[in-house]
Amino acid sequence: MRNEAPPMNALRIGICGNGTVGGGTLELLRTGAERLERRARRPLMPVRLGARRDREDCPVGDLIVHRDLLEVARAEDVDVLVECIGGTGLARELVETALRSGKSVVTANKALIAEQGNELLAIAEAHGVSLLCEAAVAGGIPILKALREGMAGNQVTSVSGIINGTGNFILTAMGAEQRAFDDVLAEAQALGYAEADPTFDVEGIDAAHKLTILAAMAFETRFDFSGVHCEGISQVTPADIEFARELGYRIKHLGIAKETQDGVELRVHPTLLPAQSLLANVDGVLNAVCLEGHAAGPTVYCGAGAGREATASAIVADLMDLARAEGKPCSTLGVDTEALRDASAVPMDKVRCPWYLRLEAEDRPGVMSELGSCLGAEGISIEALIQKPPKSPGDTVTIVVLSNEAEEQALRKAIEAITAMDAVKGTPHSIRVEE
Ligand code: HSE
Repeated sequence: MRNEAPPMNALRIGICGNGTVGGGTLELLRTGAERLERRARRPLMPVRLGARRDREDCPVGDLIVHRDLLEVARAEDVDVLVECIGGTGLARELVETALRSGKSVVTANKALIAEQGNELLAIAEAHGVSLLCEAAVAGGIPILKALREGMAGNQVTSVSGIINGTGNFILTAMGAEQRAFDDVLAEAQALGYAEADPTFDVEGIDAAHKLTILAAMAFETRFDFSGVHCEGISQVTPADIEFARELGYRIKHLGIAKETQDGVELRVHPTLLPAQSLLANVDGVLNAVCLEGHAAGPTVYCGAGAGREATASAIVADLMDLARAEGKPCSTLGVDTEALRDASAVPMDKVRCPWYLRLEAEDRPGVMSELGSCLGAEGISIEALIQKPPKSPGDTVTIVVLSNEAEEQALRKAIEAITAMDAVKGTPHSIRVEE
């Protein structure tokens, strides 16, 4: 039990979860207590901790500890619940309970917001409380604040970026150190970057969750996670990274949301970027997001996208907003939920971009011209071409094509025709290009 009651004006915080994010948040609240109080003009005071078991890296101190986490969400002496357990089961129950009990919620849980945020925002609004999630997107980069506040005067036309640190860490190491995928993933996990289920990082789901949140805020739309086209990095090979380099590109895993005449493009996939572009040079666990506004033009934000301290920094920023708001609700998306429209995601078939294609073919006369015809029949022109000599006589050769801009449905038809060529072995591998 606590010895002393918190000061009358304190923002009383209940934290659920004592892992990487919860432990880091508690530590930052404790080590930065004086600074935070000076800036918020009131103390930010953790009072209760919900955790199934104790952890050495999260000392309890004088917090009241609960093994039943829902008790924290209901506790009368908690003003704000900080949800750091992840997932969409118990986390949903905790968040909903807290909101319905008149408490604001701060969460790092992108899956929860992306998949269930529409309902949760409505509950928060109905109860006059706040639901903030800066830590859910791009770790320590205050990107939601930049979008909601700094870019408030703009019509945002696109949001794109590297929003999964683990994926970027893996692609960077694969390219620079020729290390095996599993080996790099294990290192990312040990460093606390990866999700509990690392397929979320590797298959793009984590980035899709974050893009859902960014797009909702940028375009004033409801969260539309199911509208996001999602591809991960597991199909990218060291050979692709090398061929891309030869063509003057680097491969990055990007989340891209663009407002178009047909609706909003929502897509997460590996992408070839010109080697000299800013995003192409953001390496390791760093994230970077480019916001394009009609007045501000393109603006780029870069920083640690994952990790204990970076995520805690974002959670504490939300807590500071709540402390300064003195009980008035803070907007999640910068606009009331009733003003939100449907995203109406553009079908991928209609999305246009240049393409990188890699295929294996027999080394014999006529293959290149047949390949060119398959692409030409769909109106796709070849911009650059690489073919390496066979390793030994009779071996197949790898052919790489960089095409001009084409609709995805045209490219898929061309790939069908290329796959049907006698000389071609297997299915060509395609990666989108952004100029
Ligand atoms: N697994 C996430 C990443 C952590 O690698 O970016 C922060 O969301």
